[in-house]
Amino acid sequence: MREHFFAVSELSKRFGGLEAVRRASFSVEPQEIVGLIGPNGAGKTTLVRMIMGLLRPDGGKVLWKGQDITRHPTWKRVVHGITGTFQNSRPMKRLPLIANVMVGLHNPRVRGQGEWVKTVEARALDALEFVGISDLAMSPAGAVSQGDLKRLEIARAIATEPELLVLDEPFAGLTQAETRLLANSVHRLRKGGRFGRLHSEGCAMIIVEHKLSELMRIADRIVVMHFGEVLADGHPERVVQDPRVVEAYLGKVGAHVPEVF
Ligand SMILES: Nc1ncnc2c1ncn2[C@@H]1O[C@H](COP(=O)(O)OP(=O)(O)OP(=O)(O)O)[C@@H](O)[C@H]1O
Ligand SMILES: [Mg+2]
Repeated sequence: MREHFFAVSELSKRFGGLEAVRRASFSVEPQEIVGLIGPNGAGKTTLVRMIMGLLRPDGGKVLWKGQDITRHPTWKRVVHGITGTFQNSRPMKRLPLIANVMVGLHNPRVRGQGEWVKTVEARALDALEFVGISDLAMSPAGAVSQGDLKRLEIARAIATEPELLVLDEPFAGLTQAETRLLANSVHRLRKGGRFGRLHSEGCAMIIVEHKLSELMRIADRIVVMHFGEVLADGHPERVVQDPRVVEAYLGKVGAHVPEVF
C-alpha cells in the first residue's frame, strides 16, 4: 500500500449495540483540504475524536506518515503535528483569550524553543491575530461572542503549528460574514507562510461541516459518511451528484437537506 501523509484504515467504534463508525478508511495528502460530511449521527464526530486520540477505536489504524499512531495519546499527536477543534468545546470562561490559547501550548512540540513563557505568549498572540481577535486577547472567554469563541478554538489549534488540522463544524453558529472570514483564514493556513512568529509549511485539513455550500468552496475532496460507513470519497462536484449521497440526505425523514443538492 502506498504511504499516505495521513490515513485511517478500517477504523471502527461501537457504543453498546451501535456501530457508530464501521471500517472507515480514507487518506489526506499534504496541504489537502478534505471535507467530511454526512447526515446527523453518521459518525463524523466519533471518527474525528478517534483521529485526535480522544476516543479509542475498537479496530483499525490511524497512520501518520506511515507510522501507526493508533495508540498515541492526544498530546503526542500534537507533537507529531496533528491537532484540532472539538464540536462541543468549553473554554475556560474566566481566563482571558490569550491564556486559553497558552494552555494549549503546554506541549513538547512547543517547549524547548527558547524561553518558554515568552515563546508561548508571543505565539498565542500571533494565533489570535491570525484569526482576527487579538484585540480581545485580554477579554475573559466568558465575555466574547459565539463567533469569537469559534475563532479562539482555531487560534488554540494553529498556535501549535499543526501539519494536519481537524475542524469539527468550524462554521456552526457563525454569521455569513464570519464564515467568510474564517474560510479565508483556512485558505491562508493551507497555503502556509509566516504569520507573525508562527510558521507553517502549509497545513492539511479535515473539516466536518454541515454548511455544505461553504465547504464545497474550500474542500479539494469530500468524504461522505452514512450510518458509520464511508459512502463516497471524491471530488466535491462529483460527490454531490452521486445518487447514493443524495439518497443518504434525502432519504432521512425530516432531515435538513443541504442547499447544494
Ligand atoms: N459517547 C457516546 N455514547 C453512546 N453513543 C454515542 C456516543 N457518541 C456518539 N454516539 C452515537 O454514535 C452515533 C454517531 O454520532 P456522531 O456524534 O459521531 O455523529 P455525527 O456524524 O458527528 O453527527 P452530527 O452531524 O449530529 O454532529 C450517533 O448515533 C450517536 O448518538
Ligand atoms: Mg458531530
